Amino acid sequence: MKIAVIGGTGLIGTRLVARLAADGHEVVSASRATGVDSYTGEGLAEALAGAIAVIDVSNSGYLDERGAKDFFYGSTLNLLTYGAAAGVRHHLALSVVGTDRLARTERGYFAAKAAQEQLIRRSGQPYTIVHATQFFEFLPHIADAATSRDTVRLADALVQPMAADDVAAAVADTATGSPLNGIVEFAGPEQFRLEEIVRRALQMRRDPREVVEDPLARYFGTDLDERELLPGSDATIAPTRFDEWLAATGRPVGGASAGSAPAAVSAPSAVSAPSAVSAPSAD
Ligand SMILES: NC(=O)c1ccc[n+]([C@@H]2O[C@H](COP(=O)([O-])OP(=O)(O)OC[C@H]3O[C@@H](n4cnc5c(N)ncnc54)[C@H](OP(=O)(O)O)[C@@H]3O)[C@@H](O)[C@H]2O)c1
Repeated sequence: MKIAVIGGTGLIGTRLVARLAADGHEVVSASRATGVDSYTGEGLAEALAGAIAVIDVSNSGYLDERGAKDFFYGSTLNLLTYGAAAGVRHHLALSVVGTDRLARTERGYFAAKAAQEQLIRRSGQPYTIVHATQFFEFLPHIADAATSRDTVRLADALVQPMAADDVAAAVADTATGSPLNGIVEFAGPEQFRLEEIVRRALQMRRDPREVVEDPLARYFGTDLDERELLPGSDATIAPTRFDEWLAATGRPVGGASAGSAPAAVSAPSAVSAPSAVSAPSAD
């Protein structure tokens, strides 16, 4: 099956392209680096020719709100238009758990993702929107966006993050199945306080920034309630735990609490994948 991966050179895209190719699919890795610009349309007709599925794992910057809205709107419209012309039978886009809730802040990143989702839902084309929780690999970027004078200020929220490899596996499986014409959620196997897991991710990189919980801190332009980043009870739970991922990345672990068990604060209540529940509930 021919599959076009938009954003095929990104964090998720590279993993996805490799996985789909290993499964025997004909994969087109499309991004500006490979001569395809989904925003301007350059190279898009050629990239989508003969594709059965289009997987959109492209991204704009997280901090440029206007840029994000322009990008996701223009790019998604192009992908849907060129996709329909090419006879694409499944449009899949990767988005973020809680986007609908977090989009209430009109000019934030999540408003841009919500507009992307709305365009897809209203396109009349067969689609699936995959909602994933925060990637382990993304935690340092959360810190960067929340840093002021060497202090990282994070909302008192819970997260249930997952490994980029697990995201790619979830997206690949979903894309090669039938379109669901709806949203499907994926999340990691453990919950953490946002501040705790970001601190651990920085320790791993020997990053000296102080991390503090601040109830008024915003998350990519949006205020945050405690459970808003968490998936619903029917989310599929990915296998890789944070400690396993840390060990597999092979980076030096620093800091006083490095090497200790992560402060997972509760287990998901409903899971649909094996080896997901192991942390005691502290809710
Ligand atoms: N970060 C998280 O924790 C998280 C959680 C859930 C969902 N998501 C979603 O996951 C998606 C992928 O994230 P990621 O971290 O893998 O992104 P990423 O590493 O930043 O990669 C973005 C990709 O988009 C491509 N791209 C950018 N502008 C393009 C354009 N005009 N035309 C074609 N390709 C373009 C980039 O390649 P070029 O620069 O070469 O064009 C790159 O391949 C995003 O939509 C994000 O909302 C993220």
